[in-house]
Amino acid sequence: MKKIAVFASGSGSNFQALVDAAKANQLSAEIVLMVCDKPRAYAIERADKAGVPSLVISPKDFASKTDYEKEILQKLNESGVELIVLAGYMRLIGETLLSAYEGRIVNIHPSLLPSFAGKDAIGQAFQAKVKITGVTVHYVDEGMDTGPIIAQEAVKMDEHETRESLEAKIHQVEHLLYPRVIQKLCSTDRKV
Ligand code: GRF
Repeated sequence: MKKIAVFASGSGSNFQALVDAAKANQLSAEIVLMVCDKPRAYAIERADKAGVPSLVISPKDFASKTDYEKEILQKLNESGVELIVLAGYMRLIGETLLSAYEGRIVNIHPSLLPSFAGKDAIGQAFQAKVKITGVTVHYVDEGMDTGPIIAQEAVKMDEHETRESLEAKIHQVEHLLYPRVIQKLCSTDRKV
């Protein structure tokens, strides 16, 4: 069983999807830690309910990003984390975590990258009136949503689509795709 940490900043619905998959024995991974940079995020409640230890840590309490990430790194090491799964973590990963977990950090983004990288990808796609958007799971590098793509799934924009209905469709796809991809990464012999 691979030990994974999930990083979240908000609602944590993707974290929940991973927790549920693990409970249903659909994930050969143990979620040993949930890291959250926002003290009031709903993801923390979800972690408590699921019995997953959480590390709530705010960059504001550290002199630098390096110090902030060093503290996280120490906790990851203590918990034996092998793979970092970003799920709505609204921060760029810095050099400290990148070099310690090279090739072992993944992210989910609500668009077909490289289209609509960055913030509010769903809103960007909606505004652009594209016919197809979707979801991407990718490795994380120093850029914003730029690392090598692992998996993508398309979502059609219907004629009378609203921003809300598009968002719901995207999240539905995310909640199925992410556990599937993480399962694949954790069950192969590859150094994830
Ligand atoms: C998801 O749409 C994910 O793709 C993006 O941030 C959102 C997080 O949602 N990176 P949640 O916190 O998992 O509900």
